Amino acid sequence: MTRQAGWEEAKAVIEEFTGPVRDVRFASAGFNADIAAIVNHRYFVKGLRREHPQAWTQLREKDINPYVRHVSAPVEWHADKNGWIILGFTCLPGRHADYRPGSPDLPLIAQVIGRIPPAPAGLDLKRAELRWSAYSPQPDLFAGDHLSHTDWSPGNVLIDDGARLVDWAWPTRGAAWIDPACWVVWLIASGHNPAQAQAQAARIPAFARAPEQAVTAFAAAQAAIVGRHRRTRAPRPPGGGSSRLAQAPDKVLKGTARNVPASPVNQAHAP
Ligand SMILES: Nc1ncnc2c1ncn2[C@@H]1O[C@H](COP(=O)(O)OP(=O)(O)OP(=O)(O)O)[C@@H](O)[C@H]1O
Ligand SMILES: [Mg+2]
Repeated sequence: MTRQAGWEEAKAVIEEFTGPVRDVRFASAGFNADIAAIVNHRYFVKGLRREHPQAWTQLREKDINPYVRHVSAPVEWHADKNGWIILGFTCLPGRHADYRPGSPDLPLIAQVIGRIPPAPAGLDLKRAELRWSAYSPQPDLFAGDHLSHTDWSPGNVLIDDGARLVDWAWPTRGAAWIDPACWVVWLIASGHNPAQAQAQAARIPAFARAPEQAVTAFAAAQAAIVGRHRRTRAPRPPGGGSSRLAQAPDKVLKGTARNVPASPVNQAHAP
């Protein structure tokens, strides 16, 4: 865990915005950012070194924030200084989501998915049909003008009196059913069978009416990503990719119910 490695280096920049650091708690979940910490019980601070291969995700996360702050946490300040790109979010209350069958969190999560807006015009976002083109013969089926988060790790969902979705590092423009489809795989990895998982996702109208051919193609693409991940033994992906998660798209594809979608398992390695 490198969370704390850059802390002393970045602290002076952070204090310009937070004032003197009296309390710092490093995040337990997630492993992408160089720094992820709650400062003075007030800010969630996420920092990547400029040379970090994923540093550009900080800028994406900053740029999408005005459009998703109602389902996420507002960015209150940002810095690009002394070799660091740092975002200062409002610190949210809550705990990580529980995706197991019967969890009372599930309807709250369906609600938050339903509140994700269309993709803002004019913003440079990844496009679903390009992002997964290497894994599908029919990537055009994933195209659309909706905004998707795509990383449905339970560590990215905070539950308080509702659900909030953090870690908008991979905002993607595509079909409106993509987020519920990504959630399905996590639900399967968390103990649902495919039919149960799909029933949860069907609370979201865009998923309930999604063309079967499209979601089946998406599931196949996600299974292909997992297959490549297994073959290349790529590093553990962001979002806490576990062997349980890696098996979920296969289960979806083998399920007797309608073949369905999948997750961003190793999105860092996807185009
Ligand atoms: N605004 C917030 N308020 C409180 N806690 C937060 C906030 N944003 C994120 N967190 C917590 O910090 C953790 C890490 O944040 P985040 O997922 O954005 O970082 P990351 O390094 O990109 O993670 P990953 O490697 O899993 O993608 C989250 O799992 C969540 O528990
Ligand atoms: Mg995360």
